[in-house]
Amino acid sequence: MISITLNGQKMEASAEKSILEIARENGIDIPTLCYNKKLTLFSGCRICVVEIAGRKSLAASCSTRPLEGMVIQTHSDKVLKSRREILDLLISNHPEDLFIQTKVGNNKLQEYAKEYEVLKGSYEGEKKNYEVDSVNAVYIRDQNKCIVCGQCVNVCDQVQISHTYDYLGKGFNTKIGTAFDLPISTDNCRLCGQCVSACPTGALIHKQLADIEPAKITKVRTTCPFCGTGCNFDLNIVDGKVVGVTPLEEATVNGTELCVKGRYHSDMIGSKHRLTTPLIKKNGVFVEATYDEAFEYIIDNIKKIKDKYGADSLAGLSSARCVNEDNYIFQKLFRAGFGTNNVDHCART
Ligand code: SF4
Ligand code: SF4
Ligand code: FES
Repeated sequence: MISITLNGQKMEASAEKSILEIARENGIDIPTLCYNKKLTLFSGCRICVVEIAGRKSLAASCSTRPLEGMVIQTHSDKVLKSRREILDLLISNHPEDLFIQTKVGNNKLQEYAKEYEVLKGSYEGEKKNYEVDSVNAVYIRDQNKCIVCGQCVNVCDQVQISHTYDYLGKGFNTKIGTAFDLPISTDNCRLCGQCVSACPTGALIHKQLADIEPAKITKVRTTCPFCGTGCNFDLNIVDGKVVGVTPLEEATVNGTELCVKGRYHSDMIGSKHRLTTPLIKKNGVFVEATYDEAFEYIIDNIKKIKDKYGADSLAGLSSARCVNEDNYIFQKLFRAGFGTNNVDHCART
C-alpha cells in the first residue's frame, strides 16, 4: 500500500492497481473507451487521461500505476479539455447520425459526447467511407463508426478464442477486418455476439435491436432460463413484448458473456410456434386437450405399460430448462413412483 492524493483526498492505495481501478473503487467515474477489465490493456483511446502533479503530459489512468506521494486530478480543467479534444477528433471522423441512430446497450461514445458536450466535430477533412457489412444473420458492422479501440479484436481472441478480427492497414486507414477482409459469416465467425456487447460505439449492433429506440425500452433483470448456469442479463421490453437481451458487466456468473441461445433467442418467448395447450394424438393427428385430459391419458398409459411389461419398460427424460427442484421431483417420480431408475436429462453434463 502507498499514500496518494486523489482529487484532493489523501488515501492509502494499492501500488498494484491502476489509477483507473483506484478511482473507480472510490466512486470516481473516469471515462474509458478501449479499457475492458477482462482483456489485455490496449491503452489507445486516451479518453481516461488524468493529471499527475509535476508531470508535463497527462497519463492514461487505465495503464498507469500510482507511486508513493502521487497527487492525481481526474477532472481538472486540463484533463477535461483533453477529453473534449479526443472526443472532437473521434466525432469529426464519425458519421453525422451519432445521435440519431443509437445502439441499445453499450454506446459509450454517445454517452460521453453528451456528457462532455461535444455534439459535433470541429475538424473538417477526410472521412471513412466503408460499406456496411450486414450479410450475416445476427449483427451489423459499420466500420465508419469504428474508433479502432480494439475491444472486438481482443474479446474475440481472449474470451471467445475465435481470432476472427485483426487490424488491417496503417495510420488513418487502419481498420478492423477479417482474414482477406471478407464480410462476417459463419465461415469466419461464430456469431456469438461477444464483440457486439464489447463495442463502445454503434459500429457493431445486433440486428434484433437495430431499429429499436433505446428510450422506448423498459429493462427487467432476470436469469436466463435456457440452462442451469444461471447467467443474468436485462430483458429489453417494448410495449409488453421482449425484443432482446442486454448483458450486464456486474452479472456475477457471466459478466457480459452469454451463449448464442441466451443472447439471441428471447424471440422464442413470443413465438407463434410455442405450444399453448397440451396435445393428444388421436388417429394420427394431434388434437388440443385440457391439462386434466392430458394427465389422465399419461397416467392410464403408464399404468398399462407398467402392468404389461414391467417398470423398466418406462423411461423419463428431463430438461435443463426446468429448475433443480422440478428435476429432483421428476427423478423421484420415476424412481419412487414408477419403480425404475431409467431417468435421464437432456444436458448430459
Ligand atoms: S461474433 Fe464472436 S466469433 Fe464473431 S467476431 Fe464477434 S466475438 Fe468473434
Ligand atoms: S468495431 Fe467497435 S469494438 Fe471493434 S474496434 Fe471498432 S469501435 Fe472498437
Ligand atoms: S481507456 Fe485508457 S487509454 Fe483507452
